[in-house]
Amino acid sequence: MPDTTPDRAAPAAHPIAPLVAQRWSPRSFTGAALPPGALESLLEAARWAASSNNLQPWHYIVARRDQDAAAFERLVGVLSPNNQTWARNAGVLMLSVARLTNPNNGNPMRHALHDTGAASAQMALQAAALGLQAHQMAGFDAAAARAAFGIPEGFEPVAAIAIGEVGPPEALPEVLAQRETAPRQRRAIEEFAFFGGWKA
Ligand SMILES: Cc1cc2nc3c(=O)[nH]c(=O)nc-3n(C[C@H](O)[C@H](O)[C@H](O)COP(=O)(O)O)c2cc1C
Repeated sequence: MPDTTPDRAAPAAHPIAPLVAQRWSPRSFTGAALPPGALESLLEAARWAASSNNLQPWHYIVARRDQDAAAFERLVGVLSPNNQTWARNAGVLMLSVARLTNPNNGNPMRHALHDTGAASAQMALQAAALGLQAHQMAGFDAAAARAAFGIPEGFEPVAAIAIGEVGPPEALPEVLAQRETAPRQRRAIEEFAFFGGWKA
């Protein structure tokens, strides 16, 4: 497995799979096209996510920087200004979209957002396995995305995702370059894992 970003590996407190440690969310992308087959592998990894009743509610709008220039610009256009500054250098931009109702009976799918996030998480791990990285974004205008891409009612834009080859921090504006190299931090396990019951 390529190891393009060893200095960003998570300083895990307990042993974790190397791939999990190596995934991170860069802002510096080189703008290079993805290697042949990479996009297919990313989508295939999402495809094999677990989902409630195997209903697979995820959808992805995909815009390759080199091949779908108009769609790529449209996707950049719905990102928040902060995200626009760096995400436009990704090799590919995506928008995850969740189907909110069960196609078999019309009932609400309570876990649609959960399952779509799980698929995107698998895609992010696959990106790391390919020596790429993915950066998910809540910072986008959902109504504008719905209009720009004709997303129908019953489907919810969930997250934008920038994927590509990682560039050097120095390519970013100073404030972003600092964040790119800042130590990675997480809450302690005791703060989110409550053994035996809820801990107030
Ligand atoms: C659903 C979701 C939304 C996010 N939204 C943004 C965003 O709009 N802009 C941004 O720069 N980072 C965004 N991030 C990246 C997080 O800030 C990042 O995952 C977090 O700081 C942990 O860093 P790491 O992914 O490198 O471990 C988002 C991540 C997720 C999963």
